[in-house]
Amino acid sequence: MGKQTLSFTLNGEPIQIEVEPHLTLLQVLRDKLEFTGTKEGCGMGECGACTVLLNGKTVNSCIFPALEVEGKSVTTIEGLTDGQGNLHSIQKAFIEYGAIQCGFCTPGMVLSAKALLDENTKPTEEEIRHGIAGNLCRCTGYLQIIQAIKEASEQ
Ligand code: FES
Ligand code: FES
Repeated sequence: MGKQTLSFTLNGEPIQIEVEPHLTLLQVLRDKLEFTGTKEGCGMGECGACTVLLNGKTVNSCIFPALEVEGKSVTTIEGLTDGQGNLHSIQKAFIEYGAIQCGFCTPGMVLSAKALLDENTKPTEEEIRHGIAGNLCRCTGYLQIIQAIKEASEQ
């Protein structure tokens, strides 16, 4: 099947790219655009490692058809810094609280936390747990992750 033109905004920058219609958003991000901060874990929509923001809401990019982001805004972990290399307050809190072990779940966790805090600036612990319920951490560092998100919410 022939390629189609896909136009969307990635981390604030306009993107236009020719893609095979069957590709997932994750494949386009990682393999075509080389935004490798987004990780592939299960590849089946179950672990959240591939989480990105689509118009501010989390999606599992491993099962999300790339062509469906046409005209929309995608944010990956690379888009969270301020353009001068300064980390987002959520990322700083993750470092401060040791909420990163192998780091594989971290981009997805941070983006889920961002979506949560953008909607609810002062979440309870239960709301934080709910907000990251779709993100699995194989290293089971949930306590530190929750503390880090709580800390970021207080800044
Ligand atoms: S890699 Fe997408 S949900 Fe696991
Ligand atoms: S830090 Fe290793 S999977 Fe979460």
